[in-house]
Amino acid sequence: MQNKYKGSKMKDLDWSNLGFSYIKTDYRFIAHWKEGKWDEGKLTTDNILHIHEGSTALHYGQQCFEGLKAYRCKDGSINLFRPQENAKRMQHTADRLLMPQVPTELFIRACKEVVKANEEWLGPYGSGATLYLRPFLIGVGENIGVKAAPEFIFSVFCCPVGAYFKGGLAPSNFITTEYDRAAPMGTGGVKVGGNYAASLLPHILAAEEGSAERKFADAIYLDPKTHTKIEEVGAANFFGITKDNKFVTPKSKSILPSITKYSLLYIAKERLGMEAIEGDVYIDQLDQFAEAGACGTAAVISPVGGIQHKGKFHVFYSETDVGPITRKLYNELTGIQFGDIEAPEGWIVKVE
Ligand code: PLP
Ligand code: COI
Repeated sequence: MQNKYKGSKMKDLDWSNLGFSYIKTDYRFIAHWKEGKWDEGKLTTDNILHIHEGSTALHYGQQCFEGLKAYRCKDGSINLFRPQENAKRMQHTADRLLMPQVPTELFIRACKEVVKANEEWLGPYGSGATLYLRPFLIGVGENIGVKAAPEFIFSVFCCPVGAYFKGGLAPSNFITTEYDRAAPMGTGGVKVGGNYAASLLPHILAAEEGSAERKFADAIYLDPKTHTKIEEVGAANFFGITKDNKFVTPKSKSILPSITKYSLLYIAKERLGMEAIEGDVYIDQLDQFAEAGACGTAAVISPVGGIQHKGKFHVFYSETDVGPITRKLYNELTGIQFGDIEAPEGWIVKVE
């Protein structure tokens, strides 16, 4: 298919109906850390890693990842959304797991090179498709003791994606779980694979609790200390719009500090003139909210239709329609990401 905006080629995919699954693209970036320093890194077509059987990433979970997207603009150019923030978060995660930081320059250069080399996999403006980038950092090399790896690999690959939660802007329902994805002083606030391993079972159990009439897209995690406050909506942060028009999102050390969430806090305050608050969201006080949503890079903004907790189902705005403030936030956020609305200083990095 010809890219009518730039004259470059585009793969022949059903761009408007992509889900969130792995599609092999042509190139990925790989860099190695050895004896205290990173090499330059390079693009490769090989999507299989050959690593030592004693790698700490395999045994002791010494690994982490990031997620960000590239967006096709109306004029055919390509935007990255706040990649500096992903680089910073990965550095923070690396510190927590005794891994070497990936410098911001290396992180952003890798992302740009991967997008440029795979440009044919980024769908047309207006199709809803984006290119999801998956940077990851793993401990590798000969080892058996519980200690930091002698060597590390940093890599970035990408896949064309559509909606993460089925239906996109159509509301999804969720159900609270008794399980925790993270401990109070554990690793919930950083992006390590172990948090996601811990979420696999609750995710399946949430789906199994659903019926033909009401499906649950994922589990809601409550705070691990008291199980009274909302923390995360699967692999996304939670926000609610109060009946008196405040944007409220949970604050806790065991929540992943979502770049989308911080962007929405800014947008709600500076662009929509709302009061924007990070604070406690008690699971037994959902009546204060007129609307609710899940937000994240993959999830974008997905309206929360309702939450099931201890056998009771609480509906927010509607199980079938998106509320007006959620829609405004969505339009403003995606307008900025796709280059239709002026971005706050530094939010957009062009891939040129
Ligand atoms: N919470 C969890 C557990 C996540 O995996 C993600 C995804 O990265 C988010 C929240 C949203 O974070 P962000 O907006 O930075 O993608
Ligand atoms: C993201 O939104 O980037 C995530 O990491 C969510 C998930 C696919 C793990």
